[in-house]
Amino acid sequence: KMSSEPVNVNDFKELARLKLPKMYYDFYAGGAEDEHTLRENIQAFCRIMIRPRVLVDVSQIDMSTTILGHRISAPILVAPTAGHKLAFHEGELATARAAAAAKTIMILSYSSTCSIEEVASSCNAVRFFQLYIFKRRDISALLVQRAERFGYKAIVLTADTPRLGRREADIKNKMIAPPMKNLEGLMSIDVNSDQGSKLETYANETLDASLSWEDIMWLRSTTSLPILIKGILTHEDATKAVEGGVDGIIVSNHGARQLDFAPATISVLEEVVHAVKGKIPVLLDGGVRRGTDVFKALALGAQAVLIGRPVLFGLAAKGEGGVRTVLEMLKNELEISMALSGCPCIKDITRSHVRTQHDKLP
Ligand code: FNR
Repeated sequence: KMSSEPVNVNDFKELARLKLPKMYYDFYAGGAEDEHTLRENIQAFCRIMIRPRVLVDVSQIDMSTTILGHRISAPILVAPTAGHKLAFHEGELATARAAAAAKTIMILSYSSTCSIEEVASSCNAVRFFQLYIFKRRDISALLVQRAERFGYKAIVLTADTPRLGRREADIKNKMIAPPMKNLEGLMSIDVNSDQGSKLETYANETLDASLSWEDIMWLRSTTSLPILIKGILTHEDATKAVEGGVDGIIVSNHGARQLDFAPATISVLEEVVHAVKGKIPVLLDGGVRRGTDVFKALALGAQAVLIGRPVLFGLAAKGEGGVRTVLEMLKNELEISMALSGCPCIKDITRSHVRTQHDKLP
């Protein structure tokens, strides 16, 4: 039992576990199969050391940065995650308000429990919209149009989910499919089997496993919004993304929920950054739990990071205030990391401020 107030993001995980029904906690916390990648997302950060510089004037720390031209208070965004009403009755509306308070960007999941329109009208955060391509292309196109009309500033296409990964906790728990508010009246899928994860049944019925690079052109033709591809883990695909004219890349293994034994994201970030050669922004998510993790990702070339589970745990533990606190904690930790390593501004964080296992000792 936790008797004191949380002092870091990991404390929120325990609070959320105490608060949530087991089925929902497992859905949020779990990963694919043996959860090797889930552990590795965290552990790979631990193998990177920071090379602090001293006697730099750090009396003023400026964490602000811009993503696709949008100014944010710190390079920490809210990742798209499904079903926030399972955590807290106000769902994504609470998350969006917390993102607005933190002056950061929220990426709304297509599988949100509040609609594109509801979230747009309840907050003034900069919002991006995360999309899957469905077998029913017309529905994906319609979602993009709704997002564009309601002021979302970019489309985040998740590319790592032609099918849903094997999340064994969800299979055992017979996880429900959370109500997908954006699809109301558009699609109805029968998930009334009592076998396994209903979420998996739902996803596999709706998602288009034939999706390929050519379809990016199609998506491009449906919208004038910038398009980011989420789920890239290799230099080969990073190069294809640049050639395909997308506007940004999110290095992600979907929080280790898709392919087990996919690499930890922080371990492949540099490979992607080198392939992209500064042509488009590279972001990263997966296992970011500390300000030092944010610092390491920036040092290895990310423009910003996204956080998934910490937001859900904050929401489950304390609603909107919990998400605010989670974002504040990470910002405060990043601030002190920058101060203690001699980096007053985001642009001062360079490759020479970290040492990976592959680096020779200088
Ligand atoms: C996700 N993620 C995700 N990604 C996406 O593109 N669309 C989605 O609907 C979801 N849904 C979702 C639900 C839950 C419960 C989790 C934990 C994750 C993946 C998410 O955007 C992000 O890639 C990871 O969560 C990042 O890893 P951390 O921060 O959770 O370790």
